[in-house]
Amino acid sequence: MRRLAALALLASTVATAAFAARPVAFSAEAPSSGVLVLPLGSAEELATRGTMLDAASREAVSRALTAANFRYRASNTLSLRGIGPWSQILVVGTAGDAPQDVRLQNVGGTAARETAREDGPVAIAAGGYADNADALVQIGVGARLGGYSFDRYRSENPDRPRSAGQDAPITIVSPLAQQAQSQWRSQGEALSEGVYFARDLITEPANVLSPEAFVTRTREAFRGVSGVTIEALDVPQMQRLGMNAILSVGMGSERPPRMLIVEYRGRGAEGQPIVLAGKGITFDSGGISIKPASNMWRMKGDMAGAAAVVGTVLSLARSGAPVHVVAVAALSDNMPGGGAARPGDVVAAYGGRTIERLNTDAEGRIVLADAVSYADRRFRPAAIVDVATLTGAIVTALGSDYAGLFSRHDALASQLLDAGESSGELLWRMPLNERYASAMESPIADIRDISENAPGAGAGAHFIGSFISPATPWAHLDIAGTSWRTDNQPTVPSGAAGTTVRLLDRFVRDFRPVPTAG
Ligand code: BES
Ligand code: ZN
Ligand code: MN
Repeated sequence: MRRLAALALLASTVATAAFAARPVAFSAEAPSSGVLVLPLGSAEELATRGTMLDAASREAVSRALTAANFRYRASNTLSLRGIGPWSQILVVGTAGDAPQDVRLQNVGGTAARETAREDGPVAIAAGGYADNADALVQIGVGARLGGYSFDRYRSENPDRPRSAGQDAPITIVSPLAQQAQSQWRSQGEALSEGVYFARDLITEPANVLSPEAFVTRTREAFRGVSGVTIEALDVPQMQRLGMNAILSVGMGSERPPRMLIVEYRGRGAEGQPIVLAGKGITFDSGGISIKPASNMWRMKGDMAGAAAVVGTVLSLARSGAPVHVVAVAALSDNMPGGGAARPGDVVAAYGGRTIERLNTDAEGRIVLADAVSYADRRFRPAAIVDVATLTGAIVTALGSDYAGLFSRHDALASQLLDAGESSGELLWRMPLNERYASAMESPIADIRDISENAPGAGAGAHFIGSFISPATPWAHLDIAGTSWRTDNQPTVPSGAAGTTVRLLDRFVRDFRPVPTAG
């Protein structure tokens, strides 16, 4: 008990970031020791890429690659020691037809992951591989993301060192270093920070991350960033506005819910904002419809949608993007305390539509009903995209490589699909049949939360969409399967993926207005 209290105290006093991120730098000159990372798509490329090596070393690398029968497929690696002045030469395969940014990020991520325990400097030989500043920045983003770790609650232990190379800088070596360095500060660093923000909050245990703590962490992250206004509606304010849906979800917990609104208007950005609404359940026990024990701990990450939308606005604002965007995070615990909602309860959402709650574990759509109807009315947005770890059904259907995309607005859907493709955060479009509406009719209220007569993920999507005017372009992303990974990817270490920040950052920057009629 005392240990727990001490832990909570510790958590509330240490700085925002779990640790200082591994430094990423750009330089026209390679360090002459440490690790050299060599991206190669074929044996022939060694001639042009290996200019940082003397002739003898290059020949030694060439022979080692042949002897190992190295396959140049993306993210394959070969580690060579004892060549030239380098402690290690790490060859990273780059062949394959992934989109350009994905390929570049994967090189950086692989370099960071495979050298995580190196104490010395790491140099990525990017000359001849990445031929413009933007490409170099993407390698840097990959390196930051691949090198992520969350060490906040681990004590020093010599037998199990924290990431030893965490302080060792990764230098991306290219003649375009100077240009890349300034672009890195304005864009690459901001995007990495948006993803880190999401990962940190998802990983943070629920005893630390209450709805109020989420708000505090958001305010800290945006400190000093211009063009941003942050509001957090508390319980009395939500009562006055008639947000009885999120209030009903929050009633089972000692820790009150919040509706967090982060608006960013970039210089030169005109017109209506894009609204990004996120499900922010700080712990989903299921409530009175309680979940089974196995893996319930993962529900500390049931606020991944909220983390993604706030992380996206953080990235856009920190980089000064000329866009107008609003993140609305519906933050609440879902607990079975004495005041908790009961199955069968009827509540009125913002705007007055009534909901019959048959299963208190379908809480995400309930809190989002208030978030999207409020945002639709208040901001008259050019589009609303909601992001939620909404259903187990989407995990069954799509696993962890695709998030589910639901929309009745084809022009919006196709922009999201494109952003998914180019960011490497893939979406798969799912249907929204007209019939889901009748499947979700309630005998005593305007709508019910679940139905046996509509597929699980589609029913949830339909429910949320029904709280938005049909004229407002709207899409729903179900990220229940993509938000947490159990394997390692080049830019996503296992655990909290911080998914959808890269996708939404791309989407908002590239957004072209779509017709405002369903
Ligand atoms: N947060 C869960 C969905 C979830 C499941 C997220 C697995 C991540 C991994 C959500 O609130 C939930 O409990 N959904 C229910 C809905 C059902 C009661 C209609 C589900 O999917 O079982
Ligand atoms: Zn949930
Ligand atoms: Mn639930």
